[in-house]
Amino acid sequence: MEHIHITDVAPRDGLQNQPVHLDAQAKLQLAQLLAKAGVRSIEATSFVSPKAVPQMADAAELLPLLRHALPDLRTSVLVPNLKGLERAHSAGATEIAVVLSATETMNRKNINMGLDQATEVSEQTLAEAHKLGLRTRAYVAVAFDCPFEGETPLDEVLRLAHRMHRAGAGEIVIADTIGSASPGMVKQRMGALAEAIALDRLSIHLHDTRGMAVANAWAALEVGIRRFDASVGGIGGCPFAPGATGNIATEDLVYMLERAGYSTGYDLDALIETARWIGEKIGRPAPSALSRAGGWPKRG
Ligand code: COA
Ligand code: ZN
Repeated sequence: MEHIHITDVAPRDGLQNQPVHLDAQAKLQLAQLLAKAGVRSIEATSFVSPKAVPQMADAAELLPLLRHALPDLRTSVLVPNLKGLERAHSAGATEIAVVLSATETMNRKNINMGLDQATEVSEQTLAEAHKLGLRTRAYVAVAFDCPFEGETPLDEVLRLAHRMHRAGAGEIVIADTIGSASPGMVKQRMGALAEAIALDRLSIHLHDTRGMAVANAWAALEVGIRRFDASVGGIGGCPFAPGATGNIATEDLVYMLERAGYSTGYDLDALIETARWIGEKIGRPAPSALSRAGGWPKRG
């Protein structure tokens, strides 16, 4: 069976926009539940301005707790600039992700830099991270549509993905930040990217705002993508992208993949329990389909 690599981004993307703020102990518990469900890779937090994202203000407290409790769990953290990298490194980070949006306005809203500056800062941050011996990921956000500028030109996505590739990013994460992509678009864009960038360095980060996420994941699979971001429970969204809702739910993605004969190494029932647990913590049921449906249909 072919293996599909899934990074669970619930602790970061899932929690960064919640009205209820989880403390570091609850976030640690979430990571422990994920690890018990077979999750091998997470995005744990972000080292960003606590004024911009108060939900992630405990990053420097959380990361050492995670590294200590779950030393085998691959743990990435988002950093928007060199200051973020410095903070992450001091807290013991082993992997970082930079966040570059593919439009001028989205960069300004998200990290208060224009596109050119954001590109340069991402490159510098990757270079410094490599000097420190860290693994790296680079997001290319709003890679389909921008909530401020409309459809993002594919050429621009290709250009920025190339820049991140040349800067040595271990993984280039193409993000449908506002969940507006459709399967045809995913095939076209991820197909074009897959011609230029090795498949083991390319991944896709989907949101389910318009109910397309699982179909989009299938479209990405069909053009060879084998690395996905997902969020347990389907919680999440970017606070600076109006209208964006949760990520593709890890359990929905796992159900689709495993029933098509791919292996994920993830335990569907344990993911569903985790989704229900996180729903209780944030004070509303997780939006994923599988946490409502209850898992595998009756067999035999
Ligand atoms: N972590 C913590 N604090 C940071 C920081 C970081 N990575 N980068 C800058 N700061 C601090 C500065 O030290 C300064 O602090 P002070 O006011 O106490 O002196 C303050 O933030 C302003 O610094 P500046 O460089 O002018 O930043 P800015 O105001 O232009 O904001 C970002 C830039 C990137 C820090 C901010 O926009 C941000 O954190 N965005 C978060 C984006 C995000 O997480 N989006 C969701 C995920 S994609
Ligand atoms: Zn996202």
